[in-house]
Amino acid sequence: MKTEQSLVQEAWEALEKSIIYYQGNPVGTVAARDPEVASLNYDQCFIRDFVSSALVFLIKGRAEIVRNFLEETLKLQPKERQLDCSKPGRGLMPASFKVDFSRGKERLKADFGEHAIARVAPVDSCLWWMIVLRAYVNATKDTELAYREDFQEGIRLIMELCLVARFDMYPTLLVPDGASMIDRRMGLYGHPLDIQSLFYAALRAGSELLYPNKENQYLIKALHSRLPPLIQHIHDHYWLDTHRLNVIYRFNVEEYGEEALNEFNIYSDSIPFHRLTDWLSDSGGYLAGNLGPSQIDCRFFSLGNLMAILTSLTDEQQSNKILNLIESRWDDLVADMPMKLCFPALEDIEWKTLTGCDPKNRPWSYHNGGSWPVLLWMLVAAAQKTGRAEIKHRVIKIAEKRLSKDQWPEYYDGKNGRLIGKEARRYQTWTIAGYLLAKELIKNPENLKLVSFDAYS
Ligand code: GLC
Repeated sequence: MKTEQSLVQEAWEALEKSIIYYQGNPVGTVAARDPEVASLNYDQCFIRDFVSSALVFLIKGRAEIVRNFLEETLKLQPKERQLDCSKPGRGLMPASFKVDFSRGKERLKADFGEHAIARVAPVDSCLWWMIVLRAYVNATKDTELAYREDFQEGIRLIMELCLVARFDMYPTLLVPDGASMIDRRMGLYGHPLDIQSLFYAALRAGSELLYPNKENQYLIKALHSRLPPLIQHIHDHYWLDTHRLNVIYRFNVEEYGEEALNEFNIYSDSIPFHRLTDWLSDSGGYLAGNLGPSQIDCRFFSLGNLMAILTSLTDEQQSNKILNLIESRWDDLVADMPMKLCFPALEDIEWKTLTGCDPKNRPWSYHNGGSWPVLLWMLVAAAQKTGRAEIKHRVIKIAEKRLSKDQWPEYYDGKNGRLIGKEARRYQTWTIAGYLLAKELIKNPENLKLVSFDAYS
């Protein structure tokens, strides 16, 4: 096996090769550089994929590429209000962009989901963009960039997009299916946890980055009045542990009006109580994957749970319980490649109805219970935040056994994550950057501040 030093060196070389240049300047990283598979859109810079690269560049003092990325993507954000459904809405950030050469000129071409497979809406992009901007300001102390008028306008448009127009009266954010890292049909429409954790982080970032002047007052007020009910709602309705399962098990149904305890009219027959009570240790708990009318999705989604810990959306006790669960259900959630995107996989009729029979998302493959090495850095960061040193060292060791040997795959398949993903790209940039980022976090715990938030007060 290669030494730790040579693994890091190899990863850095691969990360350098993934950099995209625009007019001579570095502006992002491609999603993957697999020489053997048609690139489709993997030769583009995805906003969500760039986050791991951005954080590792910031830690290494390479802020220029992150600054360029922020400036260029800001220019791609639509600024005009318009009623044409074939155009992206005001304030959106694209899923991805690439450098287009035509008539001897370079220009950046964005994809807001109008070209993406299944035409999914990249709701998470503008939320990640806020997280990257905050990390940039934290790392460089360059508040001037965030306070620049074009950046203040960009932040306002994102906040407006999330806060102003609504159909529902939940404090969470309503989104269509496939609106985040899981960008295919997986039953995640409505109020999926992955989006809510990012939404919460973006609001917290907005409260730090909006300059407190007259023009921004109404938004600053709006986001501070959204944060407490959002936290409360997640704590009251998404949290699952043995105690909470007991409450849900004995819920009354068909309650009308303000006094209803079973606010979402959850029918206990819809919950896999026996599986869950076996699975959850007394010391464990987690946030459910989704919540809506007569629906709690009890699947465990890693990104949402780990980001909730990092952003302090969960309180200290809950964060600890999530880590306890990961430890006690190691084979299910971590296994041979940290870590599962979600658990358990949808099977049989559920797979058919919820994924639309998607062959790429067969049980224990790709988004449906596959393992995604990019989650390594989030797990390491969450373990660090909760003081669980043993977990972070253990997971990095597991990853190091395989990642370079398998040529840095996008994802792994199988219940234990032992198979390289059936259609996974090799040299996937966020796998490479995620590994480097995890190493940097372990080397210097101070780096955690780039993505971590204190409890909201
Ligand atoms: C796949 C993933 C998505 C990622 C993209 C580029 O579509 O589902 O999360 O952003 O590939 O890597």
